[in-house]
This record gives sequence, C-alpha cells and structure tokens, in this order.
Amino acid sequence: MEREVPPSIEKILRGKKMQENKAGSSQELVQKYIMNFIKRIPVTFVKGQGLRLWDENGKEYLDFVGGWAADSLGHCHPALAQALSEQSMTLIHVSNAYYSLPAGQLAELLVKNSCFDKVFFANSGAEANEGAVKLARRYGGLKLNGAFEIISTINSFHGRTLAMVAATGQAKFQKPYLPLPEGFVNVDYNNIEAIKRATTSKTCAVLLEPIQGEGGVNIPDEDYLAKVRDWCDEKGILLMLDEIQTGMGRLGKLFGYEIFGIEPDVITLAKGVASGVAIGVILAKERFSVFSPGEHGTTFGGNPLACAAGYAVSKYLIENNIPGNAERMGQYLMLKLDALKKKYSFISDVRGRGLLIAVEFNRDIAEAAMYACLAKGLVINFLKPNLLRVIPPLIITETEVDTGIGILDEALSGLAL
Ligand SMILES: Cc1ncc(COP(=O)(O)O)c(C=O)c1O
Repeated sequence: MEREVPPSIEKILRGKKMQENKAGSSQELVQKYIMNFIKRIPVTFVKGQGLRLWDENGKEYLDFVGGWAADSLGHCHPALAQALSEQSMTLIHVSNAYYSLPAGQLAELLVKNSCFDKVFFANSGAEANEGAVKLARRYGGLKLNGAFEIISTINSFHGRTLAMVAATGQAKFQKPYLPLPEGFVNVDYNNIEAIKRATTSKTCAVLLEPIQGEGGVNIPDEDYLAKVRDWCDEKGILLMLDEIQTGMGRLGKLFGYEIFGIEPDVITLAKGVASGVAIGVILAKERFSVFSPGEHGTTFGGNPLACAAGYAVSKYLIENNIPGNAERMGQYLMLKLDALKKKYSFISDVRGRGLLIAVEFNRDIAEAAMYACLAKGLVINFLKPNLLRVIPPLIITETEVDTGIGILDEALSGLAL
C-alpha cells in the first residue's frame, strides 16, 4: 500500500501561518479558550494522510495512535474523503423523523455482516452505551419484572457520561462525580463467579468489553465470554458487549465477539466505524430491539453525513479485508515487540490481539518513552505510567511497522536507565 506525500503540505503551512498571525497560535488559542480537561502534548498537527501526520513546522510523524483507535483507515482516506465531499454537497442533516438513504445503507451493511438484526445510530461511544443500557432497562421493564441493574467490570471503560462513569469500574473516573446514577454493579473482570454472585432478580444485563482497552489491554481467558454467555442465557438476561474499541476489525475480525466464538445480544460501536468522523452504533438482535416510538432518540444520530462516512469506511474495511490486515500486522508487531522485550529487561510484558497491543514496563517510564518517540517522529499512546498502547490505523503496512519499531527501539535505548 504505497501512499503519496500530499502536495499541499507547504500550502497548508503557509495558510496556517497567515491565519495564526491574525488569531494567535493554535496552542495559545486552545489554552486560552478551551477548558483544561486534558493534559495536552505540545504538538499541533496540521495534516494527515494514511499513517502520516505533519505538525505546524512541517515535521513528519508516523501515527501509532490513530486518534485513540478511531482512525481505522488512517487519515483522510480517499474513500472517506470522497464520501464526505459528495454527501456534504447533497444532504447533511435532516431529523430522524424522515427517511434518508445513508442511514439505511450503513444499517444494512452492519446487519448483513454481523449476527444482529436492528441498529440505532448515536454520535459517540458513550452515547451508544447509554442507549444500550436504556434498551436493556426497557427489556427488563417489559420482560424481567422491572429488572434494571447492569453488571459491568472493574477496570472497564464505557465513556464519560454520568451513567457510563457508573458503569466504568475505575474509581478515578467516578470519585469526582459522586453521587452516580443507581443501577450499576462493578465486579472483577475475567471472573464468572463474580458475575454470578452479583446477579439478582434486579439484574437485566451484563456489559463487558471483549478485551479491556483503556483499562490496560486486559485479555480474558478464552472461555470467559462463553461462560458469561451461558450464564446470561440461564438467567434470561442480556449480554451486551462494548465493542467501541475492539470492533470494526481492530482485533483481526470485524467484531471481537467472533474471536471468542459467541453471539452477544447487543453490541455498541463507535471508534472505527467512520475512521474519525463522529458516530456511535447500537446493534441488537430482533428480540431485544424493544424501543417503541418516542422512547429513545437523538437529533444528530443517523444523519446522512456521518452515515455516508460510516458506510464508505465500513464497506472499504469489509471489501478489502482490513480486519485480516489487522490480524497479520498485529502478529508482525507482536514479533517485533517480543524482540524488543528480549533486548530491554525493563519491558515486563507485551500483550494484545490484532492491533490492540500493550507494552508494559517494570517501572514508570511510559511518558518518557512517549516523548522520546515523539521527538523522533513516532506518535504513540501512553496509557498508564508504566504502559504504552499500540493502536495504529488498521491499514498499517509491514514497512510502517518496521519504521515505528525502529523509532521505539531508538527511543528506549536512549532512556537513561
Ligand atoms: C470500550 C470503550 N467504550 C466507550 C468509550 C467511549 O467512547 P466515546 O469517547 O466516543 O464516548 C471508549 C473510548 O475510549 C471505549 O474505549
């Protein structure tokens, strides 16, 4: 997969300088006017293509972060750019009270390539999860004597809305916002007995990530999901998988549940669906598609622009077997990272599936490693003080893996340890 250098980079930089002379630098503007909700890394990107990014000084980087696992086809993929361009000149938004083709096309594509029957479109991962929880509660109201409680797991991550913070089993996200909405129980991950113990007559669903992403790339035992599936069947409660990070090819199959050989009742998607364009999706089996008109909704979810983007990206992913590329490149990356682990005694673990990989250190050097990589032109995610996460776009090539690993190797060898 050869990709060209964009001819427009100099022009972009010239245009940006002119704008900035009038308005102040991007970093000044952001610092002055945007809330201080995240520790930012002092780089301003102005252009992306494929796996490459350019900053405001024209410096080139290789992107192993892909907008936190969202940019499945890399930056500005032609299939996506063309769909956005055409749709933006045709119809951008009408309300959900009317019919439009892109939503129907994307829904059909997702249904035909999954084990599900019905779709709801939202605008983000958290919103998709909220909708899934509402769907489960609706099902509980209609079929399970009013059961409403959701069992989720410790170290999970389901998003930043209040209910999703309650579902997310990490105290650091919950503490500042107490009291949280009721009806969520957080139990140990990869522990079927913990789910069994927490199940009561009030339980309507179990919500899990097939592999915990933000929690540290935690991979459960091979039979964990099958055991949870059996338990949910026995109790008549829903099994809902949050595939916002693991879905759309990231683990080497279109959906993570395929790897574990089970069929969930509901899944949620977001990140990879439209390669950086905001969209969220709930997919459900017919039996659990229990919303009646007016019981759930959204102004922007399902809009023609986002759905045309999602359709173009998802179609490209499926037709070009991009999940297969993720699987092959994931194995290749693991080989290379295992070699680094042999070389550097401070790498304590390398684990992952497809292109969701963690490099764990036996000391807190991940931030220093991230900055050393950045200086050498590799964008990489530091997830925890001792853990880097490798989540590149799924179109990555062997050459790009080699380049990235070369930079990581140099960066690690330069850390004074
Ligand atoms: C598994 C999982 N669920 C939900 C979310 C939240 O998605 P969003 O940030 O689009 O709301 C994330 C984001 O990282 C995620 O990884």
